[in-house]
Amino acid sequence: MKHFFSVNQLDVDTIYHLCDAAKRYRNEQVHVSKQIFAANVFTEPSTRTKLSFIAAQRKIGLDVLEIDGVQSSISKGESLEDTAITLEAIGADVLIIRDQSNEWIDELQDKISIPMINAGAGTLEHPTQCMLDVYTLYEEFGSFEDLNVVIAGDIKHSRVAHSNIQTLTRLGANVYTSCAPAFQDPTLDVPNVSMDEAVTFADCMMLLRIQHERHEGEETSVDHYLEQYGLTKSREKQMKKKAIIMHPGPVNRNVEMDETLIYCDRSRVKQQIQNGVYIRMAIMLYMLQKWGIIDESFTNERNDTKQ
Ligand code: CP
Repeated sequence: MKHFFSVNQLDVDTIYHLCDAAKRYRNEQVHVSKQIFAANVFTEPSTRTKLSFIAAQRKIGLDVLEIDGVQSSISKGESLEDTAITLEAIGADVLIIRDQSNEWIDELQDKISIPMINAGAGTLEHPTQCMLDVYTLYEEFGSFEDLNVVIAGDIKHSRVAHSNIQTLTRLGANVYTSCAPAFQDPTLDVPNVSMDEAVTFADCMMLLRIQHERHEGEETSVDHYLEQYGLTKSREKQMKKKAIIMHPGPVNRNVEMDETLIYCDRSRVKQQIQNGVYIRMAIMLYMLQKWGIIDESFTNERNDTKQ
């Protein structure tokens, strides 16, 4: 694999292999015993993805080069392409990139000679979020066969929805969407159900943020969204006994879900965030090995299980 832009690039065995590796890294330490620089280029805001990449990089012993849109020459108008070329010339061994454009992947993929990992590309894909969601579901249910997953919220503008619908379907889950008409994506070939129906059969209600920043020029309103389309307290009571709630974050409190549900017993929001660190460790090590930047002899896996 060249760069990691989409979970579609991974076969099913590799998806499970990465989940198993993430599970191991929860209890084992793995450390790269050679100097490797990881550069994180986030031109769009991020808390979870950026900080969990940094945590993952430090856990596996990478040296972190950080750049952000405000303090770097990006604020003087330097393009993402020139920024990436500069970081490669400085000595970065791997680039982690988040950018609001849908085009950066096509623009950069043949111009950069070190592995790039997509940390969020416009409305297209968010593969590491998808992988942490897959890992969280795998930990919870052990299998995707006939698992009913309802992805609810701003489907049209969500890169998480696009990555997760494709991957969960490929793994054998029954995937549905649930959203206001303005947030439907007609290009998706999955059934759209009402929230009242969704809560009765879903094993997982995966809620998504209403992405106001992507609504420019569109007629969208979130007045009364919670009552009409969101996960209210009364709808949560209709959910199956073992059904769970997921949300990639950040949450718009009392829009896509009632704020009392964000960290309720059914919620796996905190597990998702924790799992993000371990799956990103697994993905970066996988990429570094695929590129021959490290091999088995470069990692000292230590079985000193955490207490
Ligand atoms: N889920 C997610 O991508 O969150 P951040 O925008 O905080 O990284």
